[in-house]
Amino acid sequence: MNLFDFTGKVVVVTGASSGLGADAARAYAAYGADVALLARRKERLETIADEIEGTGKNAIAVQCDISKEESIKSAVEAVLACYGKIDILLNNAGIAFAGSVEDMTTRQWDMAMDVNVKGIFLMCKYVVPHMKTRKYGRIVNIASVNAVIADKDEALVRHAYNASKNAVVGLTTGMAASLAKHGITVNALGPGLFETEMTADTLFKTESFLQMYNSLCPTSRPGRQGELNGPILFLSSDAVTYTTGQFILVDGGMALV
Ligand SMILES: NC(=O)c1ccc[n+]([C@@H]2O[C@H](COP(=O)([O-])OP(=O)(O)OC[C@H]3O[C@@H](n4cnc5c(N)ncnc54)[C@H](OP(=O)(O)O)[C@@H]3O)[C@@H](O)[C@H]2O)c1
Repeated sequence: MNLFDFTGKVVVVTGASSGLGADAARAYAAYGADVALLARRKERLETIADEIEGTGKNAIAVQCDISKEESIKSAVEAVLACYGKIDILLNNAGIAFAGSVEDMTTRQWDMAMDVNVKGIFLMCKYVVPHMKTRKYGRIVNIASVNAVIADKDEALVRHAYNASKNAVVGLTTGMAASLAKHGITVNALGPGLFETEMTADTLFKTESFLQMYNSLCPTSRPGRQGELNGPILFLSSDAVTYTTGQFILVDGGMALV
């Protein structure tokens, strides 16, 4: 038995229109899964779905704003109508912006919480009952190394992001404990720095930040495209029948120093 053969598995990936989510969707398909790509930018999703279908695998693009309950409800219904089941949920969609408690607006705080935390709660609210019925599920939540480490440089302070990603870890722990008896594992990943739309115009444009990051990070570099896929596939696979509630950092060792 190949534990990493995803043939016949249906995977929902949120935030699949770019960056780490798009990469993960391609990786799931490459390992045999049927994928549903969720995000707001429909054209981007369709382009990636077409690319995946070109490799002979099944992919659908489903427009969804994960901060809105109705949008999630219809997206989950659309996936079930198409594939008939959901085996794996990758809660990857997220937003990040700079701001401290003194200068951030209440609206910015709410936005971070709505997308990064409430979005995961709502996706799970509609997917978990289905997984419970089938007594099978793999849920992987993308948190961040910034759940457990933070920046002190004023330009890089992201208090809402820190709080929201720490909440993702707490939600993972709680859900893992109560869903284990239903055959559902819930784990979280904490990526370090990866170049994506989220970071390209901010962190990667700041030469001094990159130099500082590289000098501190034990691996002396940011993560490369595809380096999150292995941990994502592992936590989504049948290799994790007895691994749940874990928060694994994929940060080149950054949090160690
Ligand atoms: N890149 C890093 O260094 C890094 C480090 C640690 C953690 N992470 C986490 O990794 C995840 C992916 O980020 P990324 O780096 O790949 O950034 P990205 O390229 O900006 O991707 C973010 C994704 O989230 C989606 N999204 C944002 N708001 C949404 C909403 N309201 N509804 C539905 N989808 C929404 C975006 O799609 P639409 O705009 O099309 O909706 C996009 O597909 C995030 O949770 C992020 O916090 C990233």
